[in-house]
Amino acid sequence: MKVLLVGSGGREHALAWKLAQSKKLDHLYIAPGNPGTAAFGTNVEISDTDIDNLVEFARAKQIDLAVIGPEDPLAAGAVDAFAAAGIKAFGPSAAAAKLEADKAFAKQIMRANSIPTAESRMFTDFKDAKAYIASRDEAVVVKAAGLAKGKGVFVCDEPSEAILAAERIMVDGLFGDAGRVVVVEDKLLGQEASILAFVDGRSIYVMETAQDHKPIGEGDTGDNTGGMGAYSPAPIVTDKLLAQIVREVLVPTVDGMNRNETPYKGVLYAGMMLTQGGPRVLEFNVRFGDPETQPILMRMKGDLLEVMLAVCEGRLDQVSLDWDKRPAVCVVMASGGYPGSYEKGKVIQGLEEAGKMDDVMVFHAGTAKRDGEIVTSGGRVLGVTALGETIARAKARAYEAVDKISFEGATYRRDIADKALKSS
Ligand code: AMP
Ligand code: GLY
Repeated sequence: MKVLLVGSGGREHALAWKLAQSKKLDHLYIAPGNPGTAAFGTNVEISDTDIDNLVEFARAKQIDLAVIGPEDPLAAGAVDAFAAAGIKAFGPSAAAAKLEADKAFAKQIMRANSIPTAESRMFTDFKDAKAYIASRDEAVVVKAAGLAKGKGVFVCDEPSEAILAAERIMVDGLFGDAGRVVVVEDKLLGQEASILAFVDGRSIYVMETAQDHKPIGEGDTGDNTGGMGAYSPAPIVTDKLLAQIVREVLVPTVDGMNRNETPYKGVLYAGMMLTQGGPRVLEFNVRFGDPETQPILMRMKGDLLEVMLAVCEGRLDQVSLDWDKRPAVCVVMASGGYPGSYEKGKVIQGLEEAGKMDDVMVFHAGTAKRDGEIVTSGGRVLGVTALGETIARAKARAYEAVDKISFEGATYRRDIADKALKSS
């Protein structure tokens, strides 16, 4: 089979690596890919949101399956466009991708199907939002309803902070159209966990659990990022808790999407807060998480391409996958200054040496090739991922690999997976 993978991040490097292990794969193209994905196929210079050209390329190359990694092309209708051209595509339709791309839509689906989440109100007018926030004593969370690269959420302890956040989104237009509608919701307390499942419109296959680390600083301090590291499994999610999340969240979401006539296919990612009152949905994503995908795929045994085809063809119930019992830990190495502004073009050293270590994968994210060298080209640069007999060993191995890699300004957290060490 010929497969076109769309995207260029660490998630896509991990997906390319895993898809390349499939016996069914004849050739993999990645658009636009990165120097990491180039080892597993042909990088094609088409942007991941240039849907017309992606479809045209897929037609010309007689692609059998397109796999869409990021949310932007999904929300823009990539899967619908491939389908219209008679090409199978893995991921939800634009209408179903609203579960991530429109938080107001997601809240409606949750409310209509009694799915546990924070109490919320939507606003299109700043004056109304301000009056509501001022009337609340508790801490609230202010969210741009549209896609904002993971940066559209403000967790505020004081009403004054929340009003300022709403003003920046609604009056100053911080996120443009993505902030036209604002969601104000109760702040939830607890540990977070990422639950990812394959969904074929009907059947659900839940993958191994994971936990992300959103803030830039150790001890979960500082600004939120796209994710500074992840581990799998998340020991805090016991079998009983996972069963509850499947029952109370995944099943009613898939049913609710069918009733809404926006059937869901692809990866459904439920970002959960495990509160004292039970698990609550923080957000849905309509794709693999980044960086959760890196440790999850390190542990997946089996043919990812076969699973993706089964999702597209509505026969997920026939699929089985095995999982490496060993935990995996991914440490993200970022550019100095990220998530704020940062310099690019720093030469990265030690990649080969780190990549040679057993049970280690160095997934590229923001990298580029220049004069035969690999240089930094984005905020999150690498996802250094390792398996180990225990979480502690996986963590130690990941950092051993990190220590072999260097580039000017390299920034990373030293405490990835410490939460799992405490709870296991
Ligand atoms: P989201 O993109 O909606 O997942 O939000 C990004 C991050 O903001 C989450 O991973 C949480 O850490 C935090 N967050 C979002 N909603 C809430 C909430 N209702 N209560 C507390 N923290 C939240
Ligand atoms: N790791 C969170 C996300 O992919 O949105």
